[in-house]
Amino acid sequence: MPIVTLSCRITFCASHRLHNDKLSEEENRRLFGKCNYVNGHGHNYVLYVVLKNELDSRSQMVMNTDEIEKITQEHVLNKIDHRYLNVDVPEFKNLIPTVENIVVVIWKWLKPVLGDKLYQLRLDETEYCSAIYEGN
Ligand code: NI
Repeated sequence: MPIVTLSCRITFCASHRLHNDKLSEEENRRLFGKCNYVNGHGHNYVLYVVLKNELDSRSQMVMNTDEIEKITQEHVLNKIDHRYLNVDVPEFKNLIPTVENIVVVIWKWLKPVLGDKLYQLRLDETEYCSAIYEGN
């Protein structure tokens, strides 16, 4: 059977503030710019869950897309959609919620469920910036 890469696009909204407690206010402002503003700000995130596997002989699919949507809802969206990441999501208590760190945290949530089929995650924070993670 052919090996195919399947990509599913899922959107969510969340807010964050980028701030490193170990740096001065001035260094934080210089490093994080607008994303350092005190009361946080929101983004419309776009997550691409990319799976790669040999097609299942019975279904002729990598995985049923309803199933991927259900798993992502339960293991990702229920935890971060419409949340203030710094405060509401325990993983970011001591981790700056940069787009890079968010995509790594999402990987940790999805990997135990999707296993070897999970090939890549891409997270768009703005229309000109994405983080891509393949589990390394
Ligand atoms: Ni931001």
